[in-house]
Amino acid sequence: MNAEGREPQVMGDWSARQYLKFEDERTRPPRDLLAQVPLREARRVFDLGCGPGNSTELLVGRYPEAEVIGLDSSPDMLRQARERLPQCTFLEADIASWSPPPRTDLLFANASFQWLPDHPGVLRRLLEALPSGAVLAVQMPDNTREPSHVLQREVAAKGPWAGDPGMIAAPRGDLPAPKEYYDLLGPACSRIDIWHNTYNHVMATPQAIVEWFKGSALQPYLSALDAQAREQFLAAYSEKIAATYQPRFDGKVLLRFPRLFIVAVR
Ligand SMILES: C[S@@+](CC[C@H](N)C(=O)[O-])C[C@H]1O[C@@H](n2cnc3c(N)ncnc32)[C@H](O)[C@@H]1O
Repeated sequence: MNAEGREPQVMGDWSARQYLKFEDERTRPPRDLLAQVPLREARRVFDLGCGPGNSTELLVGRYPEAEVIGLDSSPDMLRQARERLPQCTFLEADIASWSPPPRTDLLFANASFQWLPDHPGVLRRLLEALPSGAVLAVQMPDNTREPSHVLQREVAAKGPWAGDPGMIAAPRGDLPAPKEYYDLLGPACSRIDIWHNTYNHVMATPQAIVEWFKGSALQPYLSALDAQAREQFLAAYSEKIAATYQPRFDGKVLLRFPRLFIVAVR
């Protein structure tokens, strides 16, 4: 559910090219997540919401003997992932209705579960489907209260598009608190680790923040608008971002970005 109690919009196709404009910054959280996965080796590993294969590549590097499989619902992302890692298998599927096959030792999901309606229920279902000792490792942006997202909601509420069903459904809801994940997943785990990291990404200009979110959180808003309204929406958002994210001593701006991490051992 989003902050207003509505089901969030399910993502349409994503642009791999837009997403990869900030590949270094976007690949830092999956590195930090993988560093805490307590498995020396693995037989079968799934990257759920693999995107363009940047997180899958980390998994291949860490578990060279494993069968590493990427899964995503976006054909554009999958095309890019297959080009990047021709030795891996990539599946087009919806995480919400997918189940792991036998001999799966790791389900890894970086920056994908926040898009699923009722993601806590899906996490619990997937964890219960794993064999003893297998790991579910998840990272989700926990940034819906950051100016970057507050300003998206403000623009959506004030423009000529205000009240459109697509706009009303677009905002992502807040994540549940860590204690709620603990109570939900803990009973199905032998061990669970939940933590936050807050990144401060150095962005060249305020406009770079707009470009960053065009590859992720702005997608549900923009895909609900026609080309002209999309330009208007982006202009209004850019103005607010420039007024809010003040230049530092070198003219660059810091994008504060809190993220939630969960590593659960079945
Ligand atoms: C922000 S990208 C993350 C990409 C990559 N894992 C990374 O670490 O940078 C989120 C990905 O999740 C995918 N996704 C969103 N909802 C999905 C669903 N229900 N089933 C499968 N993939 C989904 C999107 O298509 C997108 O490629």
